Order: sequence, then structure tokens, then C-alpha cells
Amino acid sequence: MITFDFSNRVAVVTGAGGGMGRQIANIILEAGGSVIMIDVKPEPGDLGGTPDQRLYAQGDLTEPEFVNATIAAGVERFGHIDYLANVAGVLWFEHDASLLDMDMAVWDQVFDINLKSMVHMARAVVPHMREKKSGAMVHFSTTQCLRGDPLPQDAYSTAKAGVGALSRSLAMQLAGDNIRSNAIYPGLTQTPLQARWDTPEKIAEAGSFVPLGRIATPAELATAAVFLLSDGASYITGIDLVVDGGLLLK
Ligand SMILES: NC(=O)c1ccc[n+]([C@@H]2O[C@H](COP(=O)([O-])OP(=O)(O)OC[C@H]3O[C@@H](n4cnc5c(N)ncnc54)[C@H](O)[C@@H]3O)[C@@H](O)[C@H]2O)c1
Repeated sequence: MITFDFSNRVAVVTGAGGGMGRQIANIILEAGGSVIMIDVKPEPGDLGGTPDQRLYAQGDLTEPEFVNATIAAGVERFGHIDYLANVAGVLWFEHDASLLDMDMAVWDQVFDINLKSMVHMARAVVPHMREKKSGAMVHFSTTQCLRGDPLPQDAYSTAKAGVGALSRSLAMQLAGDNIRSNAIYPGLTQTPLQARWDTPEKIAEAGSFVPLGRIATPAELATAAVFLLSDGASYITGIDLVVDGGLLLK
């Protein structure tokens, strides 16, 4: 287990009402940091830290006015911003399919949530990091965009491929301001996004595709993401970190 110290540090975490985002927020809160959390879902009841470390904003990340107002309120409350974890995303198995015949309104919505919302977040947060001449970001992609699938979710995969490009471009543009940016590519992970794995048999079957023999816990992904934000990763920028139990080896 890695021990982190986030005293006097302030993080923004999107998707904090979901599996991985909530874990990331909790690791930072328990290590003494303050966290601005954003999700369309209501605030989870099991957040760590104390109320003065937390600001939870319930709303839609595809609305730049909401994003900007939340970041302004967070800076007003905590004084500065050190980290951004762009975690929120959607995978709509029932609507997202082949680009050759899927509904293009769904395509646009998936891009707005999975990619453009990360642009809104970066545009809101980077000026505050530049002011401090330091910062770190981690953006959530997926291993799905690095391989083929006979039953595709093309909007999800294509938007998530853009997340890697966004991260590397920010890393290049912001290195001179001492701001790092990295992308993380989860494999199969047990979270509300994967509600389809709702029995021990289905969980075991999904795990049987993975060389390590099991699917990941949200905490395993959160730990990798928080490492990339932390000072322990101070010389790491512009990388694509795959955290998949070896899935891509196959
Ligand atoms: N779980 C997996 O197997 C897996 C695999 C690869 C990649 N990922 C990626 O990891 C990230 C975290 O996923 P998770 O598994 O924790 O999923 P999750 O569904 O538990 O969490 C995602 C959160 O994003 C929030 N969200 C969605 N749209 C939003 C919007 N417009 N505004 C604000 N909040 C919004 C949801 O309410 C949810 O709480 C996602 O980007 C996902 O695509 C997950």
C-alpha cells in the first residue's frame, strides 16, 4: 500500500459519485487533502475526511457554465488547485454500437460526456495551476480503445482514444509551467459502470479473460491514478498508463 501526504493540497475529481472517482476522492481526503467533487449523482454517504475538506457539486459536466461556477466556488473556498482527476464517463451498452449504423445523437452525447467535458475541466482548472506554476492531471481513457471488439461501442472507444491525445497535448503545452498530464487506461473493473457483472459467476467469467485471473477493484485503479497525481510521479508526464491485469497481453 502506498502512503500519500496531501496536506495543503487541493484536488478536483469528476465522477466522484461513481466507482473509481469516489475512491480517488477518498484516498486524497484521507491523506489530508481537500477535494472538489463533481458528479450528476448525489453525494455518496461514505466520503472520508471532514466536511471542511469537501466540496461536492452535483451537476452536468457537459455544461461549461456549471463547470466554471464550480471551479470558481472551489477556489474561493480552498484558495488554489493542485490536481485534476478527469474520471467521469459513460458506457451505454444498449445504445452505443457500430459507427456504421448507430444513432448519431447518441454518438454526440457520448463525445460530449467522455471527451468534451474533459476539455471544459482543463480550461477551467489550468489557469489556476498556471498561477501556482505547478499542477498535475490524470485523464481516464480505457483499454477498449487500444483493441478491436466484434461487438463494438464505437462512440465510447473513439472518444476515449481522444482522451489520450488530449492528455499528451496538455503535457506538451504545460510542461514549461511545471504542470503534468497523464492518461490512465483501465481494464475490466468492478464499478457501477459494469453493473452487468451482478453475480459471482459473471464476475468470475469476466475475470477469466484477464491474465491475472480476476477483474480489478476500483481501489486498484484509484491508487494508480493518485500515484500519477502525487509528488512520487514528479518526473512522469505525457504517459499512457495501462492498468489492466495483463488484458492487453492477449
Ligand atoms: N469500470 C470499468 O471496467 C472501466 C474500464 C475502462 C475505463 N473505465 C473508465 O473509468 C472511468 C470511471 O468509471 P467507473 O467505472 O468508475 O464508472 P462509474 O459509472 O462508477 O462512474 C462514472 C461517474 O461519472 C458520472 N457522470 C457521467 N456522466 C456525467 C456528467 N455528464 N456529468 C457529471 N458526472 C457524470 C456518473 O454519474 C458516475 O458516477 C470512466 O471514464 C470509465 O469510462 C471504466
